[in-house]
Amino acid sequence: MKLLVQDISRAKKAPLLVLFALEGKTPETPEGLELPASFTKGFEGKARATRETFTENKAWPHVLMVGLGDGDKLDSEGLRRAAAVAIRAAKAKQVTGVGFYVSPCVAELAGGEEATGRDISEGAYLGAHVFAGIKKDSKPSSIKQLILWASGAAFKRGAQKGELMANACNFTRDLQDASGNNMRPRDLAAQAKKLATRSPQVRCRIFDEKAMAAFGMGLLLSVSQGSDEGAKLIHLTYKPKKKAKGIITFVGKGLTFDAGGISIKPSPKMEEMRYDMSGGAAVLGLFHALGDLDLPYEVHGVVGASENTINGKATKPGDIHVGMNGTSVEIQNTDAEGRLLLADCLTYAQKKTKPDTLFDLATLTGAVIVGLGHELTGIFPSNDDLRDKLIESGERTGEYCWPLPLMDVHKDAMKGQVADLKNIGPGSLGAGSTQGAAFLSYFIDEGQEWCHLDIAGTAWNAGSRDWSGGSLGTGVGTRLLIEYLERR
Ligand code: BES
Ligand code: ZN
Ligand code: ZN
Repeated sequence: MKLLVQDISRAKKAPLLVLFALEGKTPETPEGLELPASFTKGFEGKARATRETFTENKAWPHVLMVGLGDGDKLDSEGLRRAAAVAIRAAKAKQVTGVGFYVSPCVAELAGGEEATGRDISEGAYLGAHVFAGIKKDSKPSSIKQLILWASGAAFKRGAQKGELMANACNFTRDLQDASGNNMRPRDLAAQAKKLATRSPQVRCRIFDEKAMAAFGMGLLLSVSQGSDEGAKLIHLTYKPKKKAKGIITFVGKGLTFDAGGISIKPSPKMEEMRYDMSGGAAVLGLFHALGDLDLPYEVHGVVGASENTINGKATKPGDIHVGMNGTSVEIQNTDAEGRLLLADCLTYAQKKTKPDTLFDLATLTGAVIVGLGHELTGIFPSNDDLRDKLIESGERTGEYCWPLPLMDVHKDAMKGQVADLKNIGPGSLGAGSTQGAAFLSYFIDEGQEWCHLDIAGTAWNAGSRDWSGGSLGTGVGTRLLIEYLERR
């Protein structure tokens, strides 16, 4: 789908014209188009409500109105969703081109030209995305052109940014949605390698199990030893053109399938565990965008890619393994594997990249879904400034974040009897997501600015959003992190 942004006065024709309707107002129209009273009558402009008509007008043969709801309450996600509703309707009707008419009044209510351009284009590109799967009759989207008619250069800039953000997010979604046999650790590594060919500023190194053993990554390898697929450590680097203003490193959990290991998961919904690489996918998605963004930071992406399955060599509950920072862990539950893999990735990330700020993204605990559901990512920021920046970035992108506690009592609960740590705390302590974060905290250097993001609830199955919907991947994390970097 090609993007064309034109001044509102040049709005001439489109196979489908989309008009936004604010609650209680008749939508503005391009010159030469008058809407019959019968079309607008009784349409209240409620958020995401639609109405369409076919006209005799050659330039505008097909018109779709989309409600934006109360103009005073209009926010980014509202606009994104309205655009997605329109695009999805157009797709269902096999339309080849869609033109959105964005009046200055809408742009002002939605936070100005740039923000409006970005939200509409982001919503449209996210909404247009289809995961093809592997089907005999899968068809690409019919929509070849997206035209946005608005005023101002800022709108165009915003629209181009929205396209870039959505394309990165859609890339993440495609990685997530691929089946476990098609997205193995080596496939994720190949995708990372390919990213480095898109920009001379991005570099990618892949380490195999032998290299990881030489690094001393005994915890990560304790996870992959139960799989015949070799683990891969992915290290992506982005270097700015000018002198970097700081180093920021993002670590991702890339479990391309989590069967639980010997502490095997129950069968129902186990197929969803192909999404256990969503943190890693989000980090790769960020690098999809970085080459086009011109940010003043050195950025690293470190993704541990592995399967957690069972063979004769699989880790047994009670086994002890030692991580890259020398910490020993009694693995009491092989299904709490994400924290083991992340532990070594975090050590590697600090040693090799010396970040000013360190993040990790992981589908770490089922417990975060109990606490925060599918709308909010649980975050564990090491200071309030980081917390506030992530919450603001979440509000801007619709990838909402909520802070969860991490106290000494939780850290103490992870101490082991026969090893330095155990990988699960007592069930009686509850706070399962916090226990995961508490375990990770043992692999963070003193004074290191750090935030762990538990995306187990938000990475897929967030059914209600118009631009994603259903059980598939949301691409969560990619747009959030881009926004964070831009705000920093
Ligand atoms: N990948 C899972 C977490 C998960 C579960 C994500 C459900 C999304 C939906 C993780 O590796 C895991 O199995 N965690 C365990 C930890 C427990 C054994 C302490 C969990 O959450 O049950
Ligand atoms: Zn697990
Ligand atoms: Zn897992």
